[in-house]
Amino acid sequence: MLYQRAIRPALFRLGGDPEAAHERVLGWLARISRSEGLTRALALAFGHAAARGPEREVFGLRFPHPIGLAAGFDKNGVAVPALAALGFSFIEVGTVTRDPQPGNPRPRLFRLPEEGALINRMGFNNQGAAVVAARLARQRPVGIPIGISLGKSKRAPLEEAVADYLAALELLYTAGDYFAVNVSSPNTPDLRALQAHDRLDALVAALVARLRARAAAEGRAAPKPLLVKVAPDLDEPALDAVVAVCLARGASGLIAVNTTVSRAGLGAGVPPTLAAEAGGLSGRPLHAQALGVVRALSRRAGTRLPIIGCGGIATPDDARRMLDAGATLLQLYTGFIYEGPGIARRLATALSPAPPT
Ligand SMILES: Cc1cc2nc3c(=O)[nH]c(=O)nc-3n(C[C@H](O)[C@H](O)[C@H](O)COP(=O)(O)O)c2cc1C
Repeated sequence: MLYQRAIRPALFRLGGDPEAAHERVLGWLARISRSEGLTRALALAFGHAAARGPEREVFGLRFPHPIGLAAGFDKNGVAVPALAALGFSFIEVGTVTRDPQPGNPRPRLFRLPEEGALINRMGFNNQGAAVVAARLARQRPVGIPIGISLGKSKRAPLEEAVADYLAALELLYTAGDYFAVNVSSPNTPDLRALQAHDRLDALVAALVARLRARAAAEGRAAPKPLLVKVAPDLDEPALDAVVAVCLARGASGLIAVNTTVSRAGLGAGVPPTLAAEAGGLSGRPLHAQALGVVRALSRRAGTRLPIIGCGGIATPDDARRMLDAGATLLQLYTGFIYEGPGIARRLATALSPAPPT
């Protein structure tokens, strides 16, 4: 394929640093997004219209097919129209925090090409909720659901986490069709402690209450959905706790999974210094672990909490396995980097029922 043979090697050589290549590509997509004509041309080139079916309605939103873009690719919501033109059925912007923050020192993103994987320790670098909200308010409607991933500002201690998430939600409320509460990134100190029962209970209760209050004030029939994104490294009792909180407090669904701190899925050929880089591992080596978590959550929650399956999806077989494990929708990030801009259309087409002959 052209992307794998020519474009990807050129991109991977750009600037040497994987993050520089990411910024370059995102800059192109942002520029395209600002022009209606270029966005339409991109949609034509990548067959946006072809990226149809199997259409579904989940937590009150309509999705043209199951393949969405996961959080972290467009943290500041600069390229939503172009990403929609590439055929994703929904886009999760963020993670956005209340505070603008620079994230961890660079380098903080590493490629493991033989493994189809990445390690990152970005640390929620983003422009902050107010700037992202203003940008999204100016943006043309794209006709697909836009999720917004909310995270805790690094400066906020755990005791102030609820107020910090609420402040970000308040600023971003109008811009999002659903909200994901990110308590599972390994790159913000103590963040994953928010997955423990009591802390998660307080956080989800407060966010759902705010969404219900906003819905009542606006006369909306139903509040905007809140999803909880979990780490792949949770044990069974921790998964029990997440499901119990979500059901008790009225969360609408789950996103499984974020990146893993484990290196167990890596092949023996990976240089030990690379494998030892701090951060979260994503891509192919995460896939089996992600399937296990989706199965475990789906066993517990059944149809009461729809699951967005995420982790190492790059091929139609990966996508089918994730749906068979119990996911209703799918998201990917690392597969987009390795497989290129046609991945959403390719997977959506492979999943769509064959037309009648
Ligand atoms: C560079 C990078 C940055 C990410 N940033 C975020 C983030 O800000 N918020 C979040 O919820 N997940 C973030 N993720 C995790 C992805 O959304 C996804 O859960 C994970 O990578 C597994 O999916 P994948 O194997 O398809 O990449 C990030 C992943 C990568 C590779």
